[in-house]
Amino acid sequence: MHFISMLPVRECVNQTPGYVPGEQPQTNDYTKLNTNENPYPPPPEIFEGLQEELTKVRLYPDPVSTQLRKAAAKVFGVSAENILAGNGSDDILNIAVRTFVNPGETVAFLDLTYSLYDTIARVHGASIVEISTNDKFQLNQPIICPEAQLIFVASPNPPVGKHLNRDYLKETCKQAMGVVLIDEAYADFSDENHLDFLDKYDNVIISRTMSKSYSLAGMRVGFGIASTPIIEQMNKVRDSYNLDRIAQILGTNAFNFQDYFKNVWQKVRQTRSYLIESLKKLDFSVFDSNSNFVFASPQWISASDLYTQLKKRKVLVRYFKNPRIKDYVRISIGTDQEIARLLEAIKDIKSSL
Ligand SMILES: Cc1ncc(COP(=O)(O)O)c(C=O)c1O
Repeated sequence: MHFISMLPVRECVNQTPGYVPGEQPQTNDYTKLNTNENPYPPPPEIFEGLQEELTKVRLYPDPVSTQLRKAAAKVFGVSAENILAGNGSDDILNIAVRTFVNPGETVAFLDLTYSLYDTIARVHGASIVEISTNDKFQLNQPIICPEAQLIFVASPNPPVGKHLNRDYLKETCKQAMGVVLIDEAYADFSDENHLDFLDKYDNVIISRTMSKSYSLAGMRVGFGIASTPIIEQMNKVRDSYNLDRIAQILGTNAFNFQDYFKNVWQKVRQTRSYLIESLKKLDFSVFDSNSNFVFASPQWISASDLYTQLKKRKVLVRYFKNPRIKDYVRISIGTDQEIARLLEAIKDIKSSL
């Protein structure tokens, strides 16, 4: 029998609470608006060819995800050599830390952002510099952190979901002594992205995911897009077969349905505008969003009570205990029906007070 105190656990791991993902309930009776999944399924055609692929499961998958990277390259307007495929974009974030940062060296990110950056950096034994955001959770100036080997910036940045100031990001890339990873998990839900930075700055990695805009969260497909020297180094660090056969084929197929997904993104944006207006009418203060979620603060109930009351009514949203955002809930954009259910539940809670 092992006693935990006797296990040779690295101190940085022992000291890290670990990433806390949003709940994935094991029953289907929830209106699930808590983890920014796409409410619309991918087109059924992407599953064609899957049966044949399943007959090959005794064979390892393509280690370098050739077809998937080719399809991604076409969509992102780069060449396949500029793309690393990941087991979700979380894999890319992990690989970036392990490629560019020695334990003890510095990783920088905003004081309010995707919390996995913190977990990955801590588990790696990196030092962390948190960059302050203002009271609107935005940057006041470029990130200047010469000691950082790696800077993570998400744009749009959770939990608010707005893009960061583009000029500040340009200056951040220009001034950085290390690598800047711009996490564009939500960029498809906006008109803006930073792919053009790749032509100007050779220290930039853009990460993308198929989890949100391509409705494939369950498949775990993401990308790092960067100059070939960066990709070559990161390629050595990734797991040798980091994407399974099914993920590769569904990801590749999904890229062939650009019109379908562009319609989905448009629909999500329409629903987002409707939700923001509806919440304002229900006495919430709501941030504008460039993502598939909104960040909102009810003015008539605490956010934590709202979260609990909604959960009782089988509607799941995300609540973070962090004191700076304890007055907010984050709500993923659902279908019209799901948003109607959410708004009904909110009205019901409001009228019961
Ligand atoms: C900013 C950001 N980056 C990356 C991810 C993870 O994406 P993936 O599913 O590709 O690992 C998330 C998921 O919530 C996110 O919010």
